[in-house]
Amino acid sequence: MTTKKKLIAGNWKMNGGIAANDALVRAVVAGLKDAACTVAVCVPAPYLAQVQMLRHGTPLELGAQDVSSHEQGAFTGEVSAAMLKDFGVRYAIVGHSERRRYHGETDQLVADKAKAALAHGITPIVCVGETLAEREAGHTEEVVKRQLAAVVHANGHCISEIVVAYEPVWAIGTGRTATPEQAQQVHAVLRAQLKAATEHAGRMPILYGGSMNAANAASLLAQPDIDGGLIGGASLKAADFLQIIAAAR
Ligand code: 13P
Repeated sequence: MTTKKKLIAGNWKMNGGIAANDALVRAVVAGLKDAACTVAVCVPAPYLAQVQMLRHGTPLELGAQDVSSHEQGAFTGEVSAAMLKDFGVRYAIVGHSERRRYHGETDQLVADKAKAALAHGITPIVCVGETLAEREAGHTEEVVKRQLAAVVHANGHCISEIVVAYEPVWAIGTGRTATPEQAQQVHAVLRAQLKAATEHAGRMPILYGGSMNAANAASLLAQPDIDGGLIGGASLKAADFLQIIAAAR
């Protein structure tokens, strides 16, 4: 059993708008009073300023969905870690499977992004996960270990400052959740890998993501190596998100 505080992070992906964000953040904040866990929302970059103002003075933490691996300069369209820091960002998702798949992000680029975030005091939420074909071929462990190894290698002793998110690609947005046992099995592998890299592995959060919802959150979060969740669709509805938060004790 672990007694550390769990982390529930919403990943809004490319959803939202000024009016909808206002209503959603206000409703989430209103329901946070007794939350036993840390709660964050990772919002589209244009809305960081808006959500930063809405969350100011509340326990809700702010996150971004990506960060540049570069410090500054001629990188059109990119957003640097320093810029995110200017807006009170505490977390940045890196290596989400949608970015690996649609934007060709490699393990090395993901590792460099994690490094850029850490250099500015932003906690990278490093996503790893296998596709359905990789799982069916029996390659799940090999894939997630390779993805995490790149980040461990690039970040040295700072590795203890990251958050890891196991997101099986076949479970994202599909309604098909990994069973608690399937998820725990992979989380244990990731924990062992972190233990080989740092004495602080026991206190590092390893989140599960992939169709986590109000109905299945409690059983996933009851697993010994599942320290929280990275929530897509269910984070867009305050009531659902708050139910997941309530399950994280
Ligand atoms: P869903 O919760 O919509 O499956 O998305 C999970 C995810 O990709 C979070 O980063």
